[in-house]
Amino acid sequence: MPQTVKGVVAMAEGAPVEVVDVIVPDPGPGEAVVTVQACGVCHTDLHYREGGINDEFPFLLGHEAAGVVEAVGEGVSDVAPGDFVILNWRAVCGHCRACHKGQPQYCFATHNAQQKMTLTDGTELSPALGIGAFIEKTLVAAGQCTKVADADPAAVGLLGCGVMAGFGAAVNTGGVTRGDTLAVFGCGGVGNAAIAGGHLAGASKIIAVDIDDRKLEWAKKFGATDVVNSSNVDPVEAIRALTGGFGADVVVEAVGRPETYEQAFYARDLAGTVVLVGVPTPDKQVTLPMIEIFGRGGALKSSWYGDCLPSRDFPMLVDLYNQGRFDLDAFVSERISLGDVESAFDKMHRGEVLRSVVML
Ligand code: APR
Ligand code: ZN
Ligand code: ZN
Repeated sequence: MPQTVKGVVAMAEGAPVEVVDVIVPDPGPGEAVVTVQACGVCHTDLHYREGGINDEFPFLLGHEAAGVVEAVGEGVSDVAPGDFVILNWRAVCGHCRACHKGQPQYCFATHNAQQKMTLTDGTELSPALGIGAFIEKTLVAAGQCTKVADADPAAVGLLGCGVMAGFGAAVNTGGVTRGDTLAVFGCGGVGNAAIAGGHLAGASKIIAVDIDDRKLEWAKKFGATDVVNSSNVDPVEAIRALTGGFGADVVVEAVGRPETYEQAFYARDLAGTVVLVGVPTPDKQVTLPMIEIFGRGGALKSSWYGDCLPSRDFPMLVDLYNQGRFDLDAFVSERISLGDVESAFDKMHRGEVLRSVVML
């Protein structure tokens, strides 16, 4: 029986989001209905509401979520009703060129639910990142559910997007390993997750760069050994000074702006790696001297979803959280309800929170 539940929908470009009735169909073949327990508020939700992703309104927002599988459709064997899962927006196909090359993190054919959740008048909803989780129950592809050990859903749901992106940018894409020096530009949820990743991987020095002292205080909690407020000092000079004049082995850019990307570029050591995880708007350009790209060696990389494999990374990170080795609680700035998403966007804009988490 299709169910009618409350969900947060962006009806039209720029309009404040609304809590409305949504009809969730029974799961079809390869699908699952999940009772959402918690879902973090991410910049991408706001980008959808502002029309910055595409114009397929109305959008059902929310995509950093954990919950319990309620029902599964035909042919689903990886998850079962009662399983505690984290949702992901890259359910790999297993058959495409990337999957066959053994690089499923670059899968070209990631899948979502085929059936649609609708408004009560039958209007089809576009779920944010193919998930849509500011809602009591959501319909997803079963491959979007990763079973993990029991844990606080508010904390571990954040692994579904921003925290995984930052952690993976440092560890998976950047390949930070013990003894490395790491510099991170931008200490929001993503940058601080990169810092936490570097800390767990054994980086010997972790330099946090931001223009906001509050963020730098948070960065210290996640493992930053040194902090640089780049509104007062040249961060490239500061990073070189802190690394014996060289620069960092791995530099993560978690802002998505040309000026910080350029700083990150010059802050890397010989043979160092620069990882872009901050999302630039399409109009942004950088100009870099080829001789510096050539002469310093190393790699300029970008990181999409932290090059994660949910089936590998989510259970591992939940275990580390449960063991007290990865402080996901520190990302949860506040717990709110479905009706508070709009005010959470305001707090995000003002830089007051790492993550607001909707509890259901
Ligand atoms: N130099 C250094 N830090 C900066 C600068 C700058 N010029 N401009 C902004 N920042 C800092 C902000 O003060 C903030 O702490 O970058 C941080 C960005 O953090 P959030 O806004 O909380 O964003 P976050 O969720 O961490 O995402 C970071 O990744 O997912 C994308 O769209 C997202 O591009 C954004 C990035
Ligand atoms: Zn694939
Ligand atoms: Zn997100």
